[in-house]
Amino acid sequence: MIETFVQAAYIVAALLFILALAGLSKHETGKLGNAFGIAGMALAIFATILIATDSAGVGGLAMIIVAMAIGASIGIWRALKVEMTEMPQLIAMLHSFVGLAAMLVGFNSYVEAHQPARRLELESLGMVGVHAGEIFVGIFIGAVTFTGSIIAYLKLSARMKSAPLNLPRHNLINLGAIVVSLLLMIWFVNSEHTLPLLIMTIIALALGAHLVAAIGGGDMPVVVSMLNSYSGWAAAAAGFMLSNDLLIVTGALVGSSGAYLSYIMCKGMNRSFINVIAGGFGSDGAVTGEAKDYGEHRETTAVEVAESLKNAKNVIITPGYGMAVAQAQYPVATLVQKLREKGVNVRFGIHPVAGRLPGHMNVLLAEAKVPYDIVLELDEINDDFDETDVVLVIGANDTVNPAAAEDPSSPIAGMPVLHVWEAGEVVVFKRSMNTGYAGVQNPLFFRDNTVMLFGDAKERVDDIVAAL
Ligand code: TAP
Repeated sequence: MIETFVQAAYIVAALLFILALAGLSKHETGKLGNAFGIAGMALAIFATILIATDSAGVGGLAMIIVAMAIGASIGIWRALKVEMTEMPQLIAMLHSFVGLAAMLVGFNSYVEAHQPARRLELESLGMVGVHAGEIFVGIFIGAVTFTGSIIAYLKLSARMKSAPLNLPRHNLINLGAIVVSLLLMIWFVNSEHTLPLLIMTIIALALGAHLVAAIGGGDMPVVVSMLNSYSGWAAAAAGFMLSNDLLIVTGALVGSSGAYLSYIMCKGMNRSFINVIAGGFGSDGAVTGEAKDYGEHRETTAVEVAESLKNAKNVIITPGYGMAVAQAQYPVATLVQKLREKGVNVRFGIHPVAGRLPGHMNVLLAEAKVPYDIVLELDEINDDFDETDVVLVIGANDTVNPAAAEDPSSPIAGMPVLHVWEAGEVVVFKRSMNTGYAGVQNPLFFRDNTVMLFGDAKERVDDIVAAL
């Protein structure tokens, strides 16, 4: 009876997760998508507790409640404390937990498979070899996800330099690690020895760390979504080991949507997935930032920018990571409202990798209640800059770098960027002449039609609103 209810609950939860993903794909339905996701997860947790209590008794229930209370307290504390700008590294850290969980489930399943009752069950089903394969693959994916996510966490939180680690023949090292792991898998499935499992775990831990360490700062968006995908497959692998259908379905959903997101990110950066894994894109500012002399830049004031905006008919705002740091989205929303009241056509141009998270800028602008219909993607707006009077580049840098489009020797050459320099006037909001995330100098700042408005983006936008 309970088992039938749990199976039904798992199917409903899986459907709710699919609806959640569908909802999250559009601004307008994002909140509803979130609600579906929460409902699905609540139902899944309830059903899991029910079945665990049925098989493990009140003692099992008590252990689950204690574990959930500890986990939920840490989760709520982190969620309340985390700044929006720290979200990418928090997500990377959470991915590492999924990897670690898959590894622990794998080792647990290995020990359990040798218990007499479980052994008999596997033998009667003829599943001994298949189960050994599941364990091996689960631990491999878990270990790669675990260390890869930790390195991503260190890079995103600037605790480790974002430049790629270029070991000699690093692609050959990765390939070698995969081939050796395959041979170890054959050994393990045929013998069920602990040794091949342990050797593979060490290799997979090193492979995960090396894969991400070899990827340059410019490719981090792809890494974030790639690890998202890995964490899904790690969860699905854990689902196979635990014979839990919901975990398999949910893991596969996360794995495939993460893979699709990686594809979108690769498209956004004009990079092939293989190229990203091969590493080396983007480098330290110290290497490329000072290499060329682009001449002098010009500075402006908030009052002068307010004057230009008053006379403009078409304005485009291209926000970037600096808008998130300054939390400037609220005054930006006020500025947009004021300009629209004056009859100015104001729109936003959003680069797919602006900020530090997929959809980072969209989330901030939605938070500040900017109307969705004036927030456009790169492809939708890139041809309109030459008919635009003023572009406000608010805390963006790499995503508006003309070198990507014009200088084949640039480390970010080929990455599609917003063609802001084609507008009549470009105002760049930032605090210094420092480079952006990829560490590449930006010739935009030295163009004749560009002026720099230095200072914290929130304060400068506030000044412009006051001057209007
Ligand atoms: P970035 O190139 O990161 O540049 C941000 C700019 O904001 C910096 O030049 C900085 O200059 C300025 N800034 C920082 N704090 C500010 C403040 N309080 N007020 C005003 N300006 C401030 O930004 P982007 O154009 O959004 O590009 C994103 C980069 O991050 C890309 O290279 C992308 O590949 C990478 N990345 C993206 C993701 C995802 S998924 N979106 C994930 C990881 C990495 P100052 O220091 O001079 O102020």
